[in-house]
Amino acid sequence: MLPKPIPAVAVLAALLLCTAMLSPGFAQGEGQYVGSASCEGCHEKEYSNFMKFAKKAKSDKSVKVMSKKLTPAELKECYACHTTGYGKPGGFVSYEKTPELGHAGCEVCHGPGAAHVDSGGAKNKILGKGRMNVKDCEKCHNSERVSNFRFKPMLYGGAH
Ligand code: HEC
Ligand code: HEC
Ligand code: HEC
Ligand code: HEC
Repeated sequence: MLPKPIPAVAVLAALLLCTAMLSPGFAQGEGQYVGSASCEGCHEKEYSNFMKFAKKAKSDKSVKVMSKKLTPAELKECYACHTTGYGKPGGFVSYEKTPELGHAGCEVCHGPGAAHVDSGGAKNKILGKGRMNVKDCEKCHNSERVSNFRFKPMLYGGAH
């Protein structure tokens, strides 16, 4: 007698699961941006190192010192790299409306943190160990900037 064929739905479900795990959206930071201060309570050490030593924590100042000379359109270009989540759900809107997102915070590297925070710190809801890539840094540390500043970041630089 022939073995019972595996039902097609089971095969499909297994395939879908595999593609979900391979797709870049899997296990990344999810949901909205919440700002670095929301991380402080549970990650005190990373937070205080970051606020003290990372230039990102003061990246709003770099924009503000030059803002008088810039048109509104030019300013918006700065926001893409110097703030957290500009133009994305829950992300930076303006220094007045969203001061907590005015610098390039934790979430520019770890991805939006709302789902991680709401779950009380689920590891698979934030970009963490083994799931970060220098490609994510290069959105802001792009080749043009690297040649201007003669500086290319490594994955473990400039964080905490
Ligand atoms: C309610 C507490 C809480 C808050 C708020 C919180 N976390 Fe976490 N986080 C945790 C816990 C718990 C872990 C898991 C620690 C462990 O098991 O080693 C964790 C782990 C992590 C990890 C490591 C993931 C890994 O793969 O190992 C990263 C990165 C992280 N958090 C970033 C953040 C960021 C960024 C924020 C702010 C947006 C934040 N966390 C806010 C509790 C929290
Ligand atoms: C959203 C844009 C953005 C992303 C993504 C980003 N950076 Fe940055 N980074 C900046 C900005 C802006 C500065 C400069 C801040 C200033 O001086 O005003 C900076 C500065 C730095 C510095 C300078 C040294 C210091 O003390 O802060 C290092 C190193 C660095 N980033 C590493 C990284 C790495 C590694 C990644 C990826 C894991 C990364 N960055 C991702 C925007 C970004
Ligand atoms: C594509 C992302 C990106 C954009 C857009 C951008 N920056 Fe930056 N900026 C960076 C990064 C990354 C650094 C850190 C040095 C580096 O690696 O290039 C930086 C560094 C700086 C610094 C130097 C800080 C220091 O410590 O010397 C100033 C000032 C600055 N940016 C202002 C601006 C202003 C003003 C705008 C808008 C006109 C702007 N940036 C647009 C990514 C960006
Ligand atoms: C410049 C990018 C960058 C920024 C900004 C950043 N991190 Fe990280 N973070 C990293 C990298 C890289 C790792 C190591 C990931 C790995 O081990 O593969 C890491 C690891 C962690 C871990 C896990 C530590 C462990 O030992 O398990 C926590 C928690 C964390 N970050 C929290 C934060 C918090 C909170 C902030 C903001 C205050 C922040 N990070 C800002 C890049 C960043």
